[in-house]
Amino acid sequence: MVSLPESIRKNLSTHIVGRNILYFPSVTSTNDVAKEIARKQVIEGTVVIADEQTAGKGRLNRTWTSPEGVIAYSAILNPSVAQLPLMIMIASLSVVHAIRNITGIKARIKWPNDVQIDGKKVCGILIENSLRGGKVEYSVIGIGINANVNTVEYPEIAETATSLSFISGREIPKVDLIQGLMIELDKLYLSMHNSKSIFEEWRDNLVTIGQYVRAVSGDTVYEGTAESVKPDGSLLIKQAGGNIIQVVQGDVTLKHKT
Ligand code: BTN
Repeated sequence: MVSLPESIRKNLSTHIVGRNILYFPSVTSTNDVAKEIARKQVIEGTVVIADEQTAGKGRLNRTWTSPEGVIAYSAILNPSVAQLPLMIMIASLSVVHAIRNITGIKARIKWPNDVQIDGKKVCGILIENSLRGGKVEYSVIGIGINANVNTVEYPEIAETATSLSFISGREIPKVDLIQGLMIELDKLYLSMHNSKSIFEEWRDNLVTIGQYVRAVSGDTVYEGTAESVKPDGSLLIKQAGGNIIQVVQGDVTLKHKT
């Protein structure tokens, strides 16, 4: 029988992403495994894939529900410090491209890097960077996609999430989707010198712009209209009084104005 990494490697036309593929039936978190490997001498482009994560991690210390049927993969890359803000952009765009190529579905990005279909979350991305002596030691891009999962069976995500199999009404070919993600991430990573076009495509795929939002950044909450994003990835929110707030990190909820 052909193993999962073998079938993913077959005809994989990437240059960096997927140069080394590590597959586990079950791990705590593919990001944690990737970070452990990245601390040692590692081939850039190493990808860690798991069928199931027992302690999947989300942004802002949340947990990420990750049974079989959710694609969990983490890629180890070595961008420059200046390229770090682009990692969020290439990661989310790689997901939007791969979903479109494999399923024909148009997904959008909710700032900063959730991927949504019809207002529900289909993918979460957790990027973990390590800097040492002013240089990037590693950047781990962790991507979780609800591919073949019935989200209503999981109370914690039943209301807010959806899956590709639910939207398309068919089983999503896992190997094709993983290969698609790797091919798209590879292309975008190799095109990072053209930061302007990556930024513009990411901005144009954001569902957030023009919406009334509630942004939580640390202990502070802002409400207003999401006006635009800046090339460093930050979000500009116009408050009721006309004040513009720049949110660098945080979480955004799209709201109906009351
Ligand atoms: C979020 O939406 O808060 C981010 C979720 C990121 C989940 C992925 S699944 C693969 C990788 N391993 C993890 O533990 N987390 C990321």
